[in-house]
Amino acid sequence: MPGSYSVVTGRKARKFCTNMLAWLDQKTEIVEGADQSSQYFEPAHAAYYNGKPGQPLKLMLQARSDFLSIWRRADYREHVAEFKLLGRQLVIVNSPDTIRHVVAKRHENFERKTPQMRRALEYLLGDGLFISDKETWKQRRPLVSDIVHKNRVPAFGAIMQNTASELAERWQSLGEGAEVNALFEMAGLTAEIISRSVFGNDLGQEGANAVTEGFASYQALVDSINLGYFLGFDEGLPIVKTPNLRRSVKRIHRIIDQVIEDHLAGKGDNSSMVELLVRRQQRNPELKLDVVALRNEAATIFMAGHETTAATLTWAWYLLAGAPWVEAAIHAEIEAVCGNRVPSVDDVPALSWCRAVIEETLRLYPPVPILARQAAEADEIGGVKVRKAALVLIVPWLLHRTETLFPEPHRFHPERFLGEARPTPYSYIPFAAGPRVCPGLQFGLTEAILCLAILAQRFRMRVKEGHKVQPQCRLTLRPRDGMPVTLHRR
Ligand code: HEM
Repeated sequence: MPGSYSVVTGRKARKFCTNMLAWLDQKTEIVEGADQSSQYFEPAHAAYYNGKPGQPLKLMLQARSDFLSIWRRADYREHVAEFKLLGRQLVIVNSPDTIRHVVAKRHENFERKTPQMRRALEYLLGDGLFISDKETWKQRRPLVSDIVHKNRVPAFGAIMQNTASELAERWQSLGEGAEVNALFEMAGLTAEIISRSVFGNDLGQEGANAVTEGFASYQALVDSINLGYFLGFDEGLPIVKTPNLRRSVKRIHRIIDQVIEDHLAGKGDNSSMVELLVRRQQRNPELKLDVVALRNEAATIFMAGHETTAATLTWAWYLLAGAPWVEAAIHAEIEAVCGNRVPSVDDVPALSWCRAVIEETLRLYPPVPILARQAAEADEIGGVKVRKAALVLIVPWLLHRTETLFPEPHRFHPERFLGEARPTPYSYIPFAAGPRVCPGLQFGLTEAILCLAILAQRFRMRVKEGHKVQPQCRLTLRPRDGMPVTLHRR
């Protein structure tokens, strides 16, 4: 009866709690299949959900701990779905046309990130591009895009090449079959690359470590409040500013501010992204970018630019380990293109197999598996009436595994990306699409292809015996507990 409630006490309460805990703790069923003789690999993914329909609260709680396991087979098709959760309208948009409507045609109505995402990140990033909208976003977007633009990527190629080669050297010093965690190795690699690109040589080893660790601990906090999950609509949810968090944010800000002030005073590494930001401000003083605004954009590029690429590379290693026939193809390609020389950024256009592996990896494991927006005004998407302030979700995880768009969608098949054929527009969106598309797309793709080529030229990875790989949707889509692997010299 609406409005009534009952209090459960004693044995009943204990039983209720035990059931609830058991239910919350239930393990996601993971599907994984391989047959080397028929060159077939279906990498790990959650089984289709087949619980009772009509239990939104249960699904909501399950989504908080595992967003990937709540989808039924029927969700993996081209459609628009609508739910109501605690009075809030939630719209899931899963077809190229309707996605185009949201991200391109009606971009201004759907450009706004969810309140929870904005709140959680603003302490660290201020009004940085990732969470800004309206005038601030319009003014800053061309600035940031220009700095990470594809024309500038070759200039950062040497940083990518040197950093990946240093890692290869370190791996060489470990024994044959050494155990490492691929996710941590890749996170270290991409953090180093973005740190050197954004800040040049100005940070020094100690400053670089402090910034990287500060971001990692901030993200752990953000993760713990489930940022990025589809319930991110609570405008009032306060971010818990523990003393530790305050200290690490202050430290990050202080270090970055110092670098910026040095650049403003004409001292600092000329080739860094911070220098490009500062020069742009000096050429266009009407932009009115003060130290805080410059810091916010530098911090945004730093944060947006490394975890995604680390997750991509980790998943690529897993896929290669499960499909040795693809691994053989990329080894042959690297040999044909580079011989014994270390692959460089100039080789990237010729590494079509490596590119196809990265693109297929981004299809199967999109590092940003949910794009969540808040509708500014009422609208209609694919016949569904959308209310003002509704939560609109595009879920690349679902879209990329929709059979009408990608036949045999759960299968690792990089050949889909070889040659001229491209996926239908708005069906493949690991970097989002429309005006808010990832400005670091070319940087990230080049970095992933080049690092993979440099490391695969010398090493193979195999998932540690007995380890069960399980995708987990946190801030980015990554393997639960990382990816324990063994390293093998080639
Ligand atoms: C494989 C690597 C990467 C992937 C998959 C990726 C994916 C994405 C996605 C999906 C978004 C849009 C998020 C949303 O709208 O909710 C985004 C935004 C962004 N990315 Fe990337 N990214 C990658 C690498 C990079 C790199 C290397 C940089 C910088 C060097 C970068 C900088 C940014 C920035 C600044 C934004 C915010 C853009 C805006 O809101 O206008 N990303 N990225």
